[in-house]
Amino acid sequence: MMKNYLYLFLFLWLIPFVESDSLLMANGLDSDWWKTTTVYHIYPRSWMDTDGDGIGDLEGVIAQLDYLQDLGYETIWISPFTESPQKDFGYDVKDYCKISEQYGTMETFDRLLAEVHQRKMKLIFDLVMNHTSDEHAWFQESSSSKDNPKADWYIWKDGRGKNGLKRPNNWRAMSGNRAWTYHQGRKQFYYNGFLPFQPDLNYHQPDVKNAMFDVVRFWLEKGVDGFRLDIISAIYEDSSLKNNPLSIHMTPSDRTLSIFFQHLGHNFLQEESFGFSTELREVVDEFEQPQRILIGESHGHESVLREFCNYKGKNGLHAIFMFNAISMPFKARKYQKMTETFEKYFAEPLMPTLVFANHDRNRTISRLGGSADKAKLLAMFQFTSRGIPFTYFGEEIGIPRVIIPLKEGKDPIAQQNKWLPQFLVNRSVEILNRDECRTPMLWNTQANAGFCDSLVKPWLPVADNYQQINVETQKSDPQSQYNFFKKIISLRNHTPALQSGSLEIAQEFCSKKVFAYYRTLGKNRYLVVLNMSKKSLDQFEIQGDMIVSTHVNSTIGAFFPYEGKVFLVHR
Ligand code: BGC
Repeated sequence: MMKNYLYLFLFLWLIPFVESDSLLMANGLDSDWWKTTTVYHIYPRSWMDTDGDGIGDLEGVIAQLDYLQDLGYETIWISPFTESPQKDFGYDVKDYCKISEQYGTMETFDRLLAEVHQRKMKLIFDLVMNHTSDEHAWFQESSSSKDNPKADWYIWKDGRGKNGLKRPNNWRAMSGNRAWTYHQGRKQFYYNGFLPFQPDLNYHQPDVKNAMFDVVRFWLEKGVDGFRLDIISAIYEDSSLKNNPLSIHMTPSDRTLSIFFQHLGHNFLQEESFGFSTELREVVDEFEQPQRILIGESHGHESVLREFCNYKGKNGLHAIFMFNAISMPFKARKYQKMTETFEKYFAEPLMPTLVFANHDRNRTISRLGGSADKAKLLAMFQFTSRGIPFTYFGEEIGIPRVIIPLKEGKDPIAQQNKWLPQFLVNRSVEILNRDECRTPMLWNTQANAGFCDSLVKPWLPVADNYQQINVETQKSDPQSQYNFFKKIISLRNHTPALQSGSLEIAQEFCSKKVFAYYRTLGKNRYLVVLNMSKKSLDQFEIQGDMIVSTHVNSTIGAFFPYEGKVFLVHR
């Protein structure tokens, strides 16, 4: 116990000596604030319910801002909360500039933004530009006839065959289903890159682009700090409508664009998307102070993804998610290779943005077989390697995947796949029912884990281990995942070398079991050593002071299974 306090003391003592100018950056005075920030992703429906309907709301986000600030996060990203039929829980937008009644009002939003800024934090949220809900006024008008003023705001095509009922081509959507939906009114098909109730906007029509850029300006004028751009990879389609080629891949992967034996090369990741990113950047840059940011969601190879950030020498998005991290096997050599790859394609001034969890994918702790040690090691990697760290809500306490049968799924993807045998789905590493990673935040040991009133039924079930896994309990346990997150975020926030220093693989320590790297800025050099194996390791000679370990009873020169350590290197 004594030793724990000794390390804590050493850590706190070292901070002021190490590098104190980072606080300036944390307060947003640096124009590149987004490069040094840490982001916490809130799925508002599941965060905190304050009005007793079992659904989280914006008032709940305000109520827990101190929690996030205390943990050390500087930016929050909130999943959609504007008006929507909620078939895809806000990713089906009915009105881009109106707050959904379920979440609050514009007054609540304005207050939230003011509260965030008062804490010197930043707020970004999802902009779903690719498609709207089929209940959006634009689609209602567009679908009303073939010659209304918005007739070509969506992608309409005549069907093939004698009676025009055959789809225009073979394209599949990202969700696996066919990408064309027949509309009785217009007697034509419309294109949907995701699900049928989410028709794609036609960005070849300049009025659509201008209307969307006005939406962007509306929010930037209010003062929001940027956007997460939902499936930006889908924004353009090949207007020649060529059939997609066959592929050997059945299931989707994070690096290729193939699903159900089809390569989605003509309806995703078109060259025009990169040019679009530079145009969007120009709109965002109209708002100079403070700098606003754009982070895109796209699958694909790093060599393609980087085009979103810099296209033909022009600035585009500030960052783009790199999804291959999420499915990377937890192995030292794999992590080394992944790091080398992002260093190659996302060298300065680009910033890699690795994804380890989000509202569509399995919970990290479940992917890691329930191991809190592995989760802490992963957090150490995330907060000490180069890039913008994103944490999906509840990852800091290890909320697990909550198995919910497809048939009971509220998620439209679950509903679409409800014919699949449940026993297979339960065993798969990836989830098909996204409800399973969206269950409520676990605040305390009270009924419903403090997410909503005990008499209210939460919109999704609460994880049944909430008596052990919750914020309140973990706060009082020095060895908890929560306390480790807090420690490692604090280290990052106070250490410019970890935020913006160069990254160099520490080959002399790397092996099948160990992944290690240096972070260097000016005179300051840090060494991060991650034992990614289940074996203890000893005889490490490191010339430096250990400042943080994933384990509280760590010893010099040896590593516990899955222990990671950060050293300040003597020079
Ligand atoms: C979002 C999903 C959403 C889809 C359609 C995504 O990739 O993350 O949650 O269902 O886009 O908007």
